[in-house]
Amino acid sequence: MLFICAGSGITPGYAVLRHMLAQPQLADIAFFYRTPTPELTIFQQPLAATGKVDFSYSRQGDADQTLAEQLAVYGDILERDIYLCGPEPFKNAVLKFLADIYYDFDRLELEQFAPPSAAASQARQLDEDVTVHLKSQNLSFVISAQNTQQTILEAAEAQGVEMPHGCRTGMCGSCRTNIVSGEVTGSQLGKTIYPCSAFAASRELVLQ
Ligand code: FES
Repeated sequence: MLFICAGSGITPGYAVLRHMLAQPQLADIAFFYRTPTPELTIFQQPLAATGKVDFSYSRQGDADQTLAEQLAVYGDILERDIYLCGPEPFKNAVLKFLADIYYDFDRLELEQFAPPSAAASQARQLDEDVTVHLKSQNLSFVISAQNTQQTILEAAEAQGVEMPHGCRTGMCGSCRTNIVSGEVTGSQLGKTIYPCSAFAASRELVLQ
């Protein structure tokens, strides 16, 4: 496991770290925490006491190092499950770094502070109908070209097709699935998509 946290994004990371350290069988844990200074570090002492946390200070010491340079020290990063939480610009920088090194996003857990936008403006206007195949349910449905402003979940429901869901805002992960082939816009991380806030963007779309 590799935790990558910044600022108040430490709160879920610290809770999970404490839980993991209390287990009889200790997991292989690496922990990166970006914070302004030692004085402005949340849980500074208990985190330091675990001996597991690599602190990175944005206002001193490491200020000149890029995030990519700092994360490059985790030489086995591609083999680790990553837990990411922090301010939006930090998360986006980490996601870009992970995409650049071809990290498998199926292994990423990401904490969101706010729902990702599922604005219809993210939808791509298509000239042709879209056929969506749901492999796990062994069924297909069609989204007409006029309805590609609907999220994939909305389009499925309009056809009487049930898909797992919860919050409908991209927060809970209940609808999470993988793209086998095709393209979407909206809420996507690597092959992982959230149909409640993603839109079909190719004539054919195969989902797990
Ligand atoms: S239904 Fe909650 S993330 Fe899609």
